[in-house]
Amino acid sequence: MKKNKKHEKFIDTVWKYYVKNKRDLPWRKTTDPYQIFVSEVMLQQTQVSRVLIKYPFFINQFPTFKQLAQASITEVLKTWQGMGYNRRALYLKKAASIIINQYNGIVPDDPVILDTLPGVGEATACSIVAFAYNKPTVFIETNIRRVFIYHFFEDRKLFTLRGIDGKVDDREILSLVEQTLDHDNPREWYWAFMDYGSYLGKTGENPNKKSKHYTIQTQFEGSDRQIRGKILKLLLEHRRTEQEMIEELKVKKKRVKSILDSLEKEGFTLKKNDIYCLVN
Ligand code: ADE
Repeated sequence: MKKNKKHEKFIDTVWKYYVKNKRDLPWRKTTDPYQIFVSEVMLQQTQVSRVLIKYPFFINQFPTFKQLAQASITEVLKTWQGMGYNRRALYLKKAASIIINQYNGIVPDDPVILDTLPGVGEATACSIVAFAYNKPTVFIETNIRRVFIYHFFEDRKLFTLRGIDGKVDDREILSLVEQTLDHDNPREWYWAFMDYGSYLGKTGENPNKKSKHYTIQTQFEGSDRQIRGKILKLLLEHRRTEQEMIEELKVKKKRVKSILDSLEKEGFTLKKNDIYCLVN
């Protein structure tokens, strides 16, 4: 698609920012699809600063899909500790097994196929293909969304009388992503977006508040998510009864029971004679 003057000026702004401010990130120093796969899953819902700590450690512990697929769930969860949203660690291990068993150990370069893997949504699938294979996939994540809203939707209001009706729909942004995409160097173009978008997130009002898809992360302190993390941490030390966990966590029985139920259903834990332990 032909780019118009506004697009060209916009593209120039993004590149100019990036040339001066590009971030030196370890997952940008590799084109190994495994390492990129791990980094993109880690970067979902997690700040770059936190991923920077865990990523090298994880890659060192599990250098290939095969080693990750063969590791025990306990080992993988231990290595994941501190990242939060532990479900991602289980999914990553499952995805590694699928890639080994169904795709010969090779990450498919088709986002539609990648999207079928556990823990991989549309945006992650596209980002893996763009970063690992330098293919011009079209996708949105939070930084990309921010850049487009800032430059193309200045006229939209932060609060509208029509609820979310007047807010920016990702479909509007996707069309702009497609029109401005750098087909010669999509990998670096998306890096530039992510760096510029992250910068825009730190200055002034967050443009993403104008998005239909804007959500605030719920408070962590005192949440089920926090208790879930604590239960997993206890079980990583050693097996325990429900009663022991209730006493150690000082949380109501009903709440602990319901979290333990979901952990069991999701394949984290096993229960034998009232004793809970991690699946191996
Ligand atoms: N570089 C490559 N992928 C990234 C991501 N998801 N967020 C920030 N920087 C990145």
